[in-house]
Amino acid sequence: MTSKKVTMLVNVNDKIGHINPEIYGHFSEHLGRCIYEGIYVGENSPIPNIEGMRTDIIDAFKQIKVPVLRWPGGCFADEYHWKDGIGPKENRKSIINTNWGGVTENNSFGTHEFLKFCELVGCQPYINGNVGSGTVQEMSEWIEYITSDATSPMTELRRVNGQDKAWKLKYLGVGNESWGCGGFMRPEKYVDEYRQFQSYCKNHSGNTLYKIACGPNATDYNWTEIIMKNIDPNFVNGIDFHYYTVPEWNNKGQATVFSDEAYYKVLESANNIDTIITRHTEIMNRYDPDNKVGLVVGEWGCWYDVEEGTNPGFLYQQNTMRDAIVAGMELNTFNRHSKRVVMANLAQAVNVLQSVILTEGETMVKTPTYHVFDLYKEHQDADAVYCYTDFVTEYNNVPFVTSSASEKNGRLTITMTNASLTEAADIECTLAGIHCTNVNASVLTEEVHAYNDFDTPERVTIKSLPAEIADNKLSLTLPPCSVVSVALS
Ligand code: AHR
Repeated sequence: MTSKKVTMLVNVNDKIGHINPEIYGHFSEHLGRCIYEGIYVGENSPIPNIEGMRTDIIDAFKQIKVPVLRWPGGCFADEYHWKDGIGPKENRKSIINTNWGGVTENNSFGTHEFLKFCELVGCQPYINGNVGSGTVQEMSEWIEYITSDATSPMTELRRVNGQDKAWKLKYLGVGNESWGCGGFMRPEKYVDEYRQFQSYCKNHSGNTLYKIACGPNATDYNWTEIIMKNIDPNFVNGIDFHYYTVPEWNNKGQATVFSDEAYYKVLESANNIDTIITRHTEIMNRYDPDNKVGLVVGEWGCWYDVEEGTNPGFLYQQNTMRDAIVAGMELNTFNRHSKRVVMANLAQAVNVLQSVILTEGETMVKTPTYHVFDLYKEHQDADAVYCYTDFVTEYNNVPFVTSSASEKNGRLTITMTNASLTEAADIECTLAGIHCTNVNASVLTEEVHAYNDFDTPERVTIKSLPAEIADNKLSLTLPPCSVVSVALS
């Protein structure tokens, strides 16, 4: 195996942002087997559960410290009427999930169940309200139902349904992809809808909402421009931008069978998010120089053709080392942009697109992407610090090595990816602004097509990696196709 030398510099004195834990967030939609069979199996299931929520999923989410979960969609959100999903389950309406396979949605997982799941995981809920086919009153009442401790028809209804005390809800999305499945609106139209809807989403009983407007699709810079120009930062806290890693929408390719060329194309698409975020940030900086409005990457991840024999409307795909490299690269990007990027939600948490977990009956598998979140979790709530890496182009503008670094309580975390399928990266990293004598490195590496399946759940797992620290210089070798995390103190 050949190797290339890569020079790095980490300067802890140069703080470039704060890494909100929410950057390590996830997304759960009523789509395919994400909610039903994934998160929720019902109280009467033989699969171990707490009030219907799978305990294995709760434990796995806790291990990677899932900080926030977005729900109920996605496109589903703009057809979701929350009152269908409350009260005795036998009385809840069944509806057609028109976006995702036309299947029956029996609404047995609704507001109470979602908030209970978040409580069990210990994460913040991020609820996406319905602008596309909902009303201002409906959204306003949902917020009141969830967050008010006063006496009102909504709070009485909540109490009748078994929840006496109001919940806390911070993150509220006002519409999803309003430029697409959420109403195919022009940005000018959406701006007015947003202004009206948000006016009636009140802060009740000491709860403070963080209101998130629908943001741009990928490179739609005009959307960002119109939103930022027409919504006063006093009325919006964040904008929700979506970017999927898909080199060609009409030729998405398979998740597990791909050529080296297809591998690098996917990585090139993943790496493009860096430039795209930079351009949206530049627009936001012009209208909001004080950085009041956060950029939320509300949906991101790889999107391939569905696995053979599965429902095309369920978006079920496997997850290989390629996906792990994408996750490692993009999370490094979000860390580096953490001055503006306040949250990111991988699509989607279980059994849909780039999931961290796959389930089959009572078994569950942690995907390579799951392990990347495990490797990166120490970045949560740390200060992002300057991290320079020699940019050595590997193929089509895909960087050989990507990196990010953060510091919390005297502990430094550096995460890195090596995209090359053939060459190792010999890292020589100088540390400034901190004196470290202890080092501990971990790696996720395997042949690029490797994945974890129900009969081989541990094929791709985290291992330890030799690393040395001497005279404040870190040296280690990243194997080809690897994601690495280094802890220094
Ligand atoms: O994640 C699948 C879908 O992709 C979401 O429902 C939608 O918001 C996006 O287009």
